[in-house]
Amino acid sequence: MNGSGLAGRVDALKRCHEEKMGNAAARVFQAPGRVNLLGEHTDYSGGFCMPAALNFNTLVAATPRTDGLLRLHSMDFKETVKIQLSELEEWRTGTGQGHWSAYPAGVAWSLHERGVKVLGADLTLQGNVPPGAGLSSSASVEVATATALLALAGASLAKAEVALACQRAENAYVGAPCGIMDQFISASGVAGHALAIDTRALTAELAPIPDGLRLVVCNSMVRHSVGGGEYGERRSQVEEAAAAIGRLHPRVKQLRDATLAELDEAKEGMSAAAYLRGRHVISDSQRVLDGVAALRAGDVARYGKLMDEAHVSFRDDFGASCDECDLLVSLAQELPGCFGSRLTGGGFGGCTVSLVEAEAADEFAASLKAGYHERTGVVADVFVCGIADGAGEVL
Ligand code: GLA
Repeated sequence: MNGSGLAGRVDALKRCHEEKMGNAAARVFQAPGRVNLLGEHTDYSGGFCMPAALNFNTLVAATPRTDGLLRLHSMDFKETVKIQLSELEEWRTGTGQGHWSAYPAGVAWSLHERGVKVLGADLTLQGNVPPGAGLSSSASVEVATATALLALAGASLAKAEVALACQRAENAYVGAPCGIMDQFISASGVAGHALAIDTRALTAELAPIPDGLRLVVCNSMVRHSVGGGEYGERRSQVEEAAAAIGRLHPRVKQLRDATLAELDEAKEGMSAAAYLRGRHVISDSQRVLDGVAALRAGDVARYGKLMDEAHVSFRDDFGASCDECDLLVSLAQELPGCFGSRLTGGGFGGCTVSLVEAEAADEFAASLKAGYHERTGVVADVFVCGIADGAGEVL
């Protein structure tokens, strides 16, 4: 995974598109993966989260068709599929099940549902967001596909609408119960900034990451998946907590509406697990607001401490960490120049993110990799990341 070399990737993509699709006139679109800094599993409670778009992305080369055929080629899976747009439903329950093509096909399906005229297309896809690492490779495929199909159709949707269409594809077509965060940041990211997203209002506030800091992402190499049962189980427990509070306070529809005091008050009416999940979600959503205030005040130390606290909450209350990620976080926190570190994304594996002084970042990355290898025998991928813009055409 390497964010540089975009021009080389685009050339290779166009050549491949020409070879597979017989068309040299492709337009190229991109959409990034993301790392989340604060506010985990808050995005299906209407809460706040604070991701940044990474300089790793999915590229899509696209040429239009008018015959109702969607041809997809994945350079990463080295496979081409042909889908009649009129048979997207059959594809979902047939060949598309558990297959990479379900993501772009689901986006065509969901755009059509929104009234966008998709008349057919040839799309060639290539990505460098590591899959299964909790960095939203799926959302980057979805948003890149949506951006391409909208451009070919001469249509435009607001970024929040693009995100909703892609989330719908993932929920209803792929069958993974994700929230809106990943698609939203992939569509709307701004270089150099994290976004404090209000997932109920679908609005976002820009939070600049100071120049002297770097985000260092470390892949534990333990695979993460939103489709796995744990994500859905956590989601039900969060909904159980909201329902129990709602029985006492009818205005509470989601945890976004509740305070920690109300959660305590309703404790008897929910399972022990639901209580802990609720405590994580309510406190982590608040940490986003506190984090925005800290960045505004230039208080990086405070922001880093919020990241450390978020990890403890995710590990102990949400029960979504793993030994490998806990180890990475504790190793990171001991290294020079590190302000804070935590497991990022859906949990149960994937990556940690650390906020590190720019000057110390390379040394930090090397030491973290060495320390993890020494303790586990595993060679982790470690990236000093750039923060990129959201989806668009590559011109
Ligand atoms: C995954 C989901 C998101 C979000 C995060 C946890 O990335 O796709 O919607 O719920 O997990 O914050």
